[in-house]
Amino acid sequence: GAPVKIDISKLESGQRVVEEWRGQPIWVVRRTQDMLDTLPELDEKLRDPASEADQQPEYAKNEWRSIKKEYLVLVGTCTHLGCSPLFEEQPTVELEHGGFFCPCHGSKFDLAGRVYKSVPAPTNLVVPPHSYLSEGVVIVG
Ligand code: FES
Repeated sequence: GAPVKIDISKLESGQRVVEEWRGQPIWVVRRTQDMLDTLPELDEKLRDPASEADQQPEYAKNEWRSIKKEYLVLVGTCTHLGCSPLFEEQPTVELEHGGFFCPCHGSKFDLAGRVYKSVPAPTNLVVPPHSYLSEGVVIVG
């Protein structure tokens, strides 16, 4: 499929935009500093905090799993059986720091798409190949 351009110029801090690429939902989340600050604290609760087993491009193999710290780009499909996890920008009963919650079988992911221990999803959410055309435009594909 052709690459897709995603306009993030109007995306506010703490918000997400949803697009589609190759029939898959693509999410871009603009993370607040508070959201980013929670990431290092969660490592012990995660199955693969350094994202060694899952799929992401080399340039997203870092603590934030993204090119720019602020923007997280993910395939919005649960790595268990493909349901669509909910974006929880605020803390919830399941996710004390917010993140993504899959209603199908309860898988939980943090705000870098990293999977928690003891949930059915085996791996972190996938970071698709992407780049920045400009400050306000991401290209996925
Ligand atoms: Fe998400 Fe099963 S499909 S937990």
